[in-house]
Amino acid sequence: MTTKLPRRSLLAGLLVTGAAGCVGSGAMTAASARRKAPADPWQGVRDEFTLSPAWIHMTAFLLASHPRPVREAIERLRRELDENPVDALHAHEDLAPVREAAAAYMGAAAEEIALTDSTTMGLASLYLGLPLEAGDEVLTTEHDHYSTHESLRLAAERTGAVVRKIALYGRSSAATATEMAGAIEAALTPATRVVAITWVHSSSGVKTPVRAIAEVVARANQGRAPAKRVVCCVDGVHGFGVEDATMADLGCDFFAAGCHKWMFGPRGTGVLWGKRELWPMLRPSIPSFGRAAYEAWLRQRPPPPTTADMMSPGGFHSFEHRWALPAAFAFHRGIGKARVAARIHALNRQCKEGLKGMGHVTLHTPLDAALSAGIVCFEVAGMTPEAVVGRLRERRIIASTSPYATSYVRVAPSLLTSEADVEVVLRAIRALA
Ligand SMILES: Cc1ncc(COP(=O)(O)O)c(C=O)c1O
Repeated sequence: MTTKLPRRSLLAGLLVTGAAGCVGSGAMTAASARRKAPADPWQGVRDEFTLSPAWIHMTAFLLASHPRPVREAIERLRRELDENPVDALHAHEDLAPVREAAAAYMGAAAEEIALTDSTTMGLASLYLGLPLEAGDEVLTTEHDHYSTHESLRLAAERTGAVVRKIALYGRSSAATATEMAGAIEAALTPATRVVAITWVHSSSGVKTPVRAIAEVVARANQGRAPAKRVVCCVDGVHGFGVEDATMADLGCDFFAAGCHKWMFGPRGTGVLWGKRELWPMLRPSIPSFGRAAYEAWLRQRPPPPTTADMMSPGGFHSFEHRWALPAAFAFHRGIGKARVAARIHALNRQCKEGLKGMGHVTLHTPLDAALSAGIVCFEVAGMTPEAVVGRLRERRIIASTSPYATSYVRVAPSLLTSEADVEVVLRAIRALA
């Protein structure tokens, strides 16, 4: 499938003029701030989305709005499927173009990528597919998401392996890379088979030093027999579409991410990447509809060694979404991964520096760009996170609370927001004092 790049330069749309002004309260707050914003080369990118301009959308980490090229690809494919489902199915049956587009974005090989419907599906397929046994240990952290913890619990229940959860840091805002990698190193034992971590914690906004942790794991593997080696697995969803990193840069063994958050991919799409030589160790939980597995069944032969293709859950999917996924990777590559990362980090810095200066706010996300990405977590003295999110909604700002036992307010300055939007958000939080 070929993917068209945006019709005009994504950065060409200078649609707003004038100086940033003060913003009052009420329903027009977000819209009026946007109108008064200074000329902004990123407006062209924001114009690719049909997000309601009545709101400031500080939740790019939750569920994507589709940008124009993704919407158009989905519509084209939906029409094709509705006109003739069988011929459309055959025309797009080879998913190599989707995997190649993902591979080009991730700096990986297409054969190393399984297609999934979400981060959760990727993590569950991975953890339930690992050859764990009674007595094996899985090392994870207290900071990971429900999807990691529950996938590991289910895997442990079936195999008799033990899941151990450790803290990578005491205070998230003061976390350091050395401390986090050191915590993993100290917790590894001869029984450890898996290190399960998350690139960017949606509980605190902390970005973990995946490369340093992968190096700790690689050192632990020196001298271990292949069957006793530790695999380093990452929930990468909140760095994917934010950071300018390849799989080789990260150095981990497996990496799962949904494409329907920061990537702005079709809702219900995701990828699971793994090093080429490691796929045979996995056992699929859901039969793939890939050629090799199906052929073996047709010829009544045992299945071949597991590949990434065989770890792509089979059955029919919402195909117009899956086949349109290359458009999302092309959207990001059209802007440039380095530019996307620099933009998101600049807006997050602006947001965090603003919050840091407020006496009634406790910032839980590190200021350092090496230790944070696009999520900012904080608390407001004397208010529950839900109350803060409610007050922000009154100002037409959509924020969220982190769905963890200890919950914070979360905002995500992103490609969907401008400097002026971040200023409006900071003003609204300042007004809560
Ligand atoms: C860290 C993390 N992992 C996984 C998920 C679930 O992602 P998905 O909806 O793609 O399964 C979330 C949810 O937003 C998350 O914050």
